[in-house]
Amino acid sequence: MPHAIARMAGALITAAAVAASLLLWAAPASAADLSGGRLDWGVKESFRSYITGPIAKGEIQTGDGASTSGGAYRFHSASGSYEGGSASIDYQGWVYFWGHDGELDLTFANPSVEYSGSSGTLYVYVNGSRTDMASLSGGSLSESGGTISVSGASATLTANGAAAFAGYYEAGQALDPVSFSADVAAAPEPTEAASETATEAETETDEVAGAVLDWGVRTSWRDYVSGNIAEGEWTVADGAADGGAVFRFTEGAGTATATDYELAYQGAVTFTGNDLDLTLTAPAITATGGKGVLSAEVDGARVDLVSFEAELAERDGLLVAEEVPTQLTEAAVPVFGGYYQAGDAMDPLLIAVPLTADAVLPALPDLGSEPVEAEPSTENPATATAATDDGVDPLVWIVPAALVVLLGAAAAIVALVQRAKRKQQAEAEAPPADETSEPTASEEDTPAENG
Ligand code: HEM
Repeated sequence: MPHAIARMAGALITAAAVAASLLLWAAPASAADLSGGRLDWGVKESFRSYITGPIAKGEIQTGDGASTSGGAYRFHSASGSYEGGSASIDYQGWVYFWGHDGELDLTFANPSVEYSGSSGTLYVYVNGSRTDMASLSGGSLSESGGTISVSGASATLTANGAAAFAGYYEAGQALDPVSFSADVAAAPEPTEAASETATEAETETDEVAGAVLDWGVRTSWRDYVSGNIAEGEWTVADGAADGGAVFRFTEGAGTATATDYELAYQGAVTFTGNDLDLTLTAPAITATGGKGVLSAEVDGARVDLVSFEAELAERDGLLVAEEVPTQLTEAAVPVFGGYYQAGDAMDPLLIAVPLTADAVLPALPDLGSEPVEAEPSTENPATATAATDDGVDPLVWIVPAALVVLLGAAAAIVALVQRAKRKQQAEAEAPPADETSEPTASEEDTPAENG
């Protein structure tokens, strides 16, 4: 009997130690956090044509940083986790379908994917309610260069998804394919880097630095470039960033007051495609009395691209103007091949000038690294190698596995001791259920902000 008690005490101590180690181990996040990235999905080609065609006579808009890219809609700024070949990722942005004089009024917002191996589910907020929209299959989730991605997964409508289309489609019907990516390593924070370059408390002179300029050129221009006429693409360089629906030019330096400002930025965006090669370099804005012009270098010459009216408002250590409407200048008509006329509306501008070193610039949709095309893999990527490819210490897996074995052994010893004890007392009781509670992923289903 003393032996039994000593063994039980030993077992309990071991079990407690193991449980404590497990708790300690569970504290750091075991899954890799995701950031950056994009999800491309065109919903359904025939639906898009139907909306803008003669039947629904409607329109499609995108917002909250979503943009069109090719025929698809591009959602941005992934957040979520990736572990053992499974990913759970939320994206941001919305696309709005309107038609039949408002009878049809449908917002698809903040899509997310749950994906494991080569299948998963696409969720979308449909007019504010999270809906499992489509079953995904076919594309395998691969990791390369710190980016996970799935390219061209087939999507078939779920029953709930069919209901979202008012029953005009049936469950099982094919939707447009879905591609998505996200950066496994934390993405660099461009806003912080930029704000560090802000001038040291510049108030006495009007000199400023570290300003940014966001401009998407023109939505229909991006659609044309990436669509099936030009079949092209755009790239950013020299300090410009691609935010999907906008390009951000950085390191803006010059002088600024509310109404008079002169800022020269860094960065270039190049559009290429069939018979198309246009680079806009080193944009600059100049404004007097709130009336301004945005220019850029095109083929080595500076060209006024758009005019605008904006006074910069002081806010949180910034001078800012947002959603500033712009109009094409006469001089820029040839830049776009004569397809747009002087005075045509181009995309709105955002100007943000930090006045203090700790001013935080407006966030740009984070598209992350360029997703690496998944190569047809010859080997089956085992989850264990995926873990080491991550640069994750294999001990992260081995230690907990060993601990689980130990815990099992400890529990067995405790059970044996208890059984012997109960056998000695007359009647046996049912063994206590041993449950290990797993942390449940908390999900914040923020309602969609519909436009
Ligand atoms: C005034 C109300 C509506 C009328 C008169 C109407 C009429 C039609 C017609 C005639 C078609 C056939 C188009 C074709 O075959 O080319 C159609 C297709 C369709 N409608 Fe509507 N509709 C209405 C409202 C809605 C609403 C509220 C939704 C909800 C999303 C919807 C979703 C669809 C879809 C998904 C299709 C199939 C498009 C495709 O992929 O070809 N409709 N509708």
